[in-house]
Amino acid sequence: MIDKNKMENLLNEAKNAALKAYAPYSNFRVGAALLCEDGTVITGVNVENRSYGLTICAERSAVCSAVSKGYLRFNALAIAAPDSVEPVGPCGACRQVIGEFMPADTPVRFAGSGGTEVNTTVGELLPFDSLHDLKK
Ligand code: THU
Repeated sequence: MIDKNKMENLLNEAKNAALKAYAPYSNFRVGAALLCEDGTVITGVNVENRSYGLTICAERSAVCSAVSKGYLRFNALAIAAPDSVEPVGPCGACRQVIGEFMPADTPVRFAGSGGTEVNTTVGELLPFDSLHDLKK
């Protein structure tokens, strides 16, 4: 169980990270924050490209940054989308990548600029996850 303060802090980290997003095409900034098992927080932002399809979402950017630093296990994820009033959940591609590194019961919190926060889990975002047996 992650305590309330830790989730709140994680969402704040995601909000701060979002300010560093590189989103000159959509003007839609997103920040993600991963709570690593040892308490370290690793953030990521969306990184767009003039070849639009190459855009990397904040969630995958955070996962890649964390893995690059040697972190493979996470206790929670928070996502902030300050340019949306409503909370914005991860896209389908990110859900698959999140599912690679986080078990189904991992808490996920996401919020926009309005007061509403969604509290869910990796398993709710990616039900019927499969292909676990492919690891060699
Ligand atoms: N985006 C994210 O970074 N994460 C999400 O969860 C939703 C969408 C980015 C991709 C693109 O740069 C911008 O938001 C608009 O879709």
